[in-house]
Amino acid sequence: FADGNTKSKIMIIGEAPGEEEDKIGKPFVGEAGKLLNKMLLAINIKRSYIYITNVVPWRPPNNRQPNIEEILQCLPFIQKHIEIIKPFLIILLGGTAAKAILATTHGITKLRGQWHEYNNLNIKKPILTRAMYHPAFLLRSPIHKKEAWEDLQEIQKKIETNEII
Ligand code: URA
Repeated sequence: FADGNTKSKIMIIGEAPGEEEDKIGKPFVGEAGKLLNKMLLAINIKRSYIYITNVVPWRPPNNRQPNIEEILQCLPFIQKHIEIIKPFLIILLGGTAAKAILATTHGITKLRGQWHEYNNLNIKKPILTRAMYHPAFLLRSPIHKKEAWEDLQEIQKKIETNEII
């Protein structure tokens, strides 16, 4: 259900495992994962430094997007997961993760490009959160890589200012 460093101050949350992830048993190890690794390296973050998981830990049939019922069933687990990891920064990949974690109906185009705060009743202070395009979407629509690069640069600035790596 997760990969990486449990002590990391950066938690990345995606949608649900794909076929490759399902076979290997780790999130983001397929093509989208390879692009994600490159995106992180572009801002000097090694994959081994971060902690990474998904809103839904199982692959929905035929690799479809998780439906609202599946997301709501898994939500208490990802909320607890965030409480346990207590990251300084959360990065949400794609609209499904962004809507579920930020509890909004806005789409990713509206949610990306700005800072948000993640709140839940069991955490003392809000967690800085950035939503950005999912790497699988960027593979299909490379024209949006420029906006993803802008989000990555903002994330890098926050990491440097707060000396979290
Ligand atoms: N897409 C996701 O959202 N999560 C994965 O783990 C792989 C692909």
